[in-house]
Amino acid sequence: MKILAIETSCDETGVAIVDAANDGSHIEVLSNELSSQVDMHREYGGVYPSLAKREHAKNLVPLFLGALKEADLLTRVREPEIPKERIGAIKEVLEREPELFVQLTILLAQTKRPDIDRIAVTVGPGLAPALWVGVNFARALSIAWDIPVVPVNHLEGHVVSALYNYQGKRLRSVETTFPVVSLLVSGGHTELVLSKELGEYSLLGHTRDDAAGEAFDKTARLLGLSYPGGPEVSKLAQDAREEQLEQPFSLPRPMQHSDDYDFSFSGLKTAVLRLTQELKKLDDVQKKQIAREIEDAIVDVLIKKTEAALSEHGAKTLVVSGGVSANKELRRQFTELAHKHSVNVHFPEVSLATDNALMIALVGALKSEDDISKEVSSIGANANLSLHGT
Ligand code: KG4
Ligand code: ZN
Repeated sequence: MKILAIETSCDETGVAIVDAANDGSHIEVLSNELSSQVDMHREYGGVYPSLAKREHAKNLVPLFLGALKEADLLTRVREPEIPKERIGAIKEVLEREPELFVQLTILLAQTKRPDIDRIAVTVGPGLAPALWVGVNFARALSIAWDIPVVPVNHLEGHVVSALYNYQGKRLRSVETTFPVVSLLVSGGHTELVLSKELGEYSLLGHTRDDAAGEAFDKTARLLGLSYPGGPEVSKLAQDAREEQLEQPFSLPRPMQHSDDYDFSFSGLKTAVLRLTQELKKLDDVQKKQIAREIEDAIVDVLIKKTEAALSEHGAKTLVVSGGVSANKELRRQFTELAHKHSVNVHFPEVSLATDNALMIALVGALKSEDDISKEVSSIGANANLSLHGT
């Protein structure tokens, strides 16, 4: 079964095509295209929804074309194959993305229907204007070529991406023993989730304010580092460890000892703000020391809450995923934690920890016929979609 996947929830435009075994256990990656807007958002210090939307609309057709070529699914035609009334319906769907409509109609006029069995598209959570571009693009392709659409939860993509082993372009699902406790740490989310079976999720706790990735991004900015802050803070923290710098600073570990699975990271940002104001001008050594303390504070809290969840629910497997799971120190400490509790631990491939369309294709492969939307017009973006109940 060939699956086309589309991801536009935040600041990465992703298009992937995979060939999946019917039960999703084996996947061959035919193409996995990504266009990052990070450089543009870096100038503004964060992601702006209307800019993100515009960039997605500009990038989708070129990425899709690249993905079709790479997957060897592109066949040119001399005469357009799509009936006129379908073009009318597509125009309606892409009413708010006129530039995308023009690019797509040119592509449709020159291209034979590719051999694709379903389209998996991220419908949430994320930035509403950004999500809608991807959703409308999926709907337009579905109308053009009669391909069914499977709506995918972005967070499920992050979780599922950790449950495969990668050998080049071939992926194989890992044997997962339940219950599974998943820690999802990204720029928009920090959640602890319990799964008793595949595809079933219940929320144990989440952040009450900033997400872990957001804490990295905001504190990095206070240190004068660029967006996204996670990798930058992590680099300096690594230097501090290697150079064995002493640690004169101490930052709070918010809610570390609260008797629940919730998180709060906004206090950490305030503490770093105060510290940087007190110190006025930071030298390179101080930056490294503070970066290390930021990383330690965030990882300490994540470890403490996850450890409690593993024990309380008798977990057999731990999954740590989302953009922040690219962090090396975090991986080291969670691997140790899993060892201590004799549970299996899975992280996504580092290159797939941050947003991409391949993880959306993986969820698309696991969904059954029942999950396919009967009516393409009923598919919509949901910025606040939760994992619970997916
Ligand atoms: O999952 P993701 O790509 O996007 C969302 O769905 O939010 O996560 C992006 C977040 C950013 O906040 C970024 O700073 C963080 O992941 N991140 C990291 C690292 N790499 C990315 N945080 C800590 N250490 C890293 N190495
Ligand atoms: Zn994400």
